[in-house]
Amino acid sequence: MRLVSPLLKLLSGSAALLLLWLLVGGFSSWTRSPPGPSPAGSSDLLSPSSYSYVLNQPGLCADRRPTLVAVVPVVPGDRTSRDAIRRTWGGAGALLTVFFVGLSVGGADDLSAESREHGDVIQMDFVDSYRNLTVKTLMIMNWVATHCAQASFAMKVDADIFVNVFYLMELLRTYPTRGFITGSVIRDGRPRRDRESKWFLSEDVYPDTYFPPYVSGAGYVFSTDVAEKVSLASRHVPAVPLEDVYVGLCLRAAGISPVYAHSFLALRNLFEVRHLEYDRCTFATRVIVNGFKPEELLRIWPDFSRNHLNC
Ligand SMILES: *[C@@H]1O[C@H](CO)[C@@H](O)[C@H](O)[C@H]1NC(C)=O
Repeated sequence: MRLVSPLLKLLSGSAALLLLWLLVGGFSSWTRSPPGPSPAGSSDLLSPSSYSYVLNQPGLCADRRPTLVAVVPVVPGDRTSRDAIRRTWGGAGALLTVFFVGLSVGGADDLSAESREHGDVIQMDFVDSYRNLTVKTLMIMNWVATHCAQASFAMKVDADIFVNVFYLMELLRTYPTRGFITGSVIRDGRPRRDRESKWFLSEDVYPDTYFPPYVSGAGYVFSTDVAEKVSLASRHVPAVPLEDVYVGLCLRAAGISPVYAHSFLALRNLFEVRHLEYDRCTFATRVIVNGFKPEELLRIWPDFSRNHLNC
């Protein structure tokens, strides 16, 4: 549709070309697609029913009834990150941690043995690519809404994040249990219009100058009812290939404002989107810190888990 409309405008401007246009059967496409910017078509809308589970853990939350479920999007081949998380914050016992994967481009990964061993792998049949992260995030929301409403809170957290689960579990007691989402809120985001950018968005895909407030995708926490609200809103919100912005668009449609997570006294961001060098007492005052390789997580965790209370 997008290709046809500018073509039609060009052709209809000239009487000589009009004849050609009629000859090539343009008339029929004119009647089907009016000129001008194409409206958000149904092809831009995502639907949970488009994809199926390859592996699922449908009864996990009903059995465990966790206060918090952490969902980690990770590519199928990255077992190293999954194992590091299992042996560090993800296995700390206070929370339930699950891994959300798609299919690798080759489609050759079989995670069923790992899934039997750990019972924490959820796999769906979409291609696990950077451009499909929006699909993945929406499927995470849908999984939480469908299979984990028994948890009070959910967290979406990337695989390269340090999570201070001890501090987070304390904070959860102060959080509202409905309509609540918190993290590092970005209020002045706008689409990049230069085609060279990794985050390029055309005006066709996103016409507005600004993004609504959204939480940085590295890690954020929400009451589980938000997952269903985002899932429902997503039916009417055309997809953009920036997963955290997309959640922001769905939140706006659902009438939910993300809450910036800062400490009470110092205005410090509790969801640290930068990487910080490990320092036990600095990390004790953050919920997440960004940019950890698996071996680095494994290295710092024993000290942190044993000594974080001595700060
Ligand atoms: C996203 O996943 C779908 C379903 O597997 C696939 O058809 C599509 O090519 C993927 N898109 C990208 C950009 O990888």
